[in-house]
Amino acid sequence: MVRLQALIFSHACFVCLLSPIFSYGQERCGLVEYEKLRHSKISRLETQDQFEQWMQKRIADNKLRTQQTGRIEANTYTIPVVVHVIHNGEPVGAGTNIPDAQIISQIQVINDDYKRLNADKTNTPSEFQTVAGSIDIQFVLAKQDPEGLATNGITRTLGTKTSWTVSDNAEFKALSYWPAENYLNLWVINLSGSIIGYAQLPVSSQLPGLEDSSNDRLTDGVIVDYQTFGSTAGGSFNLDAAFNKGRTATHEIGHFLGLRHIWGDGSNCATDYVDDTPAQSASTNGCPTNPQTSCSAHKMFQNYMDYSNDVCMNIFTQGQVGRMVVVLQSSPRRASLLTSPGATDPIVATIDLGIRQIVTPQSSLCDSPVAPQVEVKNYGSSSVTSTQIQLLLNGSVVETKTFPSLALSNLQSTTLSFNSLNFSASTSQQVAFQIIQTNGTTDGKSSNNNASVQVTIPAKVSLPILESFNTVPSGWQILNPDSDVTWANVVAPDASTSNRAMYMNFHSYQNEGTLDWLITPSFSLSIALNAQLKFDVAYAQYPGETADNLKVYALPGCSTDLSQGILLYDKSGTALATAPSTSNNFVPSSD
Ligand code: ARG
Ligand code: ZN
Ligand code: CA
Repeated sequence: MVRLQALIFSHACFVCLLSPIFSYGQERCGLVEYEKLRHSKISRLETQDQFEQWMQKRIADNKLRTQQTGRIEANTYTIPVVVHVIHNGEPVGAGTNIPDAQIISQIQVINDDYKRLNADKTNTPSEFQTVAGSIDIQFVLAKQDPEGLATNGITRTLGTKTSWTVSDNAEFKALSYWPAENYLNLWVINLSGSIIGYAQLPVSSQLPGLEDSSNDRLTDGVIVDYQTFGSTAGGSFNLDAAFNKGRTATHEIGHFLGLRHIWGDGSNCATDYVDDTPAQSASTNGCPTNPQTSCSAHKMFQNYMDYSNDVCMNIFTQGQVGRMVVVLQSSPRRASLLTSPGATDPIVATIDLGIRQIVTPQSSLCDSPVAPQVEVKNYGSSSVTSTQIQLLLNGSVVETKTFPSLALSNLQSTTLSFNSLNFSASTSQQVAFQIIQTNGTTDGKSSNNNASVQVTIPAKVSLPILESFNTVPSGWQILNPDSDVTWANVVAPDASTSNRAMYMNFHSYQNEGTLDWLITPSFSLSIALNAQLKFDVAYAQYPGETADNLKVYALPGCSTDLSQGILLYDKSGTALATAPSTSNNFVPSSD
């Protein structure tokens, strides 16, 4: 018997529908990449203004504190960095598999630029010297990995493609990723086309304007093309002549810490919400002679948040530093970097058993009951002979089990099993493990003693299914990893003006390269050998937009691993369109 789930999901931005239904949507998919903000059509200004009011208040508070204490931010912010090199199989040091020295030259550049220790700061025009800012950020190649083991902060992974686009965002990041709460993930890849880098913006529960940014922890970080990463100051590397001083990473980390482009991503002297950067009518390209004038002011094209060539960039302003300080203090996945163990050498405890991973259940569990299993590893220097572990379901202890006869030497691991648990369908339940004791005493390192997983067993249905989408159907699941626009149930006139459908609003979706999933209950195909899936769909393209995409997969088991799925339908752009393109919000009409 094969158990299948049909998955209808939207890649980048999209839409979909089933049966007597409609869905519609359209537009650009914004993106992780800040510059694309100018494509946004609606609704962001309001929240952006709220964001900025909040930000201005925080900056004012910080200024006041500076006056009271008589000093600018005296903090050193230490940020552990992991560089993921996604290569094409070359030996280390060749082609996309860039050498360690190139990576080290990049870390040097960002450490100099943020602290304003860059040798070319003397090139900052004198009229801008007075607003030049520095922020004491120390970027450190990670010294311990997520397991607490020693590392040089560089991972090297063979890619599944030889070049990548922004739409592949989730895919290449999944090849190598460390928890974004504890590491600045910096992916160095072969980016196709003219984009040389992009970044995921910070979010915070205190920040209104979340539509600027993905809240997906699994994609958080910075991406730089391998030919613009590093600096010729550190050796003769294979770098693009215009972008060979490491300023692409300086720029992208500026976005990662909350900075906007200096020209405000608009065409009318738009603001970047920093008061000491002059308004600029557009980005600067190349390396013009100084001064250049636009918006009745000299352009600060030397700013790292412009698009000038690397050799011409040399300044962040104090106002930009103010924004970054606010983000480092209050954006959860930025503030947590500052206390990450990743930046310090591992300390090996004598007695230290740790949870390496939860083996079962996985979040994609299909059937209940299941016997929970956990892989534990001896991270300590002494051997581990026994342990006591608690199993918790939704926070309540359901089993406390002693394993009296282990024999694990340093770095050896084993899998331990518990009594079976029942899970009800369609409800999210938390399974947690806690190491209570090791070798009959308190475990010597508590940071690796806990692990938990959220488990949702899908509802099961028998065929045939007919779904009219008069509401979000019960038993179906919506997954929205970026917490941004997602599947909604709306009126979509067809035969009747009150017909309803599931809908993806691409028109206001900023975040390109992300997925939104609409998943059916699971069903068995054992008696339905000639299975058919039919659905209605309506879509209008935003003029020229090709990133909106609707795919339908059949997924065996209950996994959300698309590489295991069977792709049944895949349309985007004009192929998906059922109505003329329009730059307005699209609603299908009854005819
Ligand atoms: N276009 C990219 C972005 O907007 C990077 C620009 C970096 N510029 C440079 N001179 N290195 O994020
Ligand atoms: Zn940018
Ligand atoms: Ca431990």
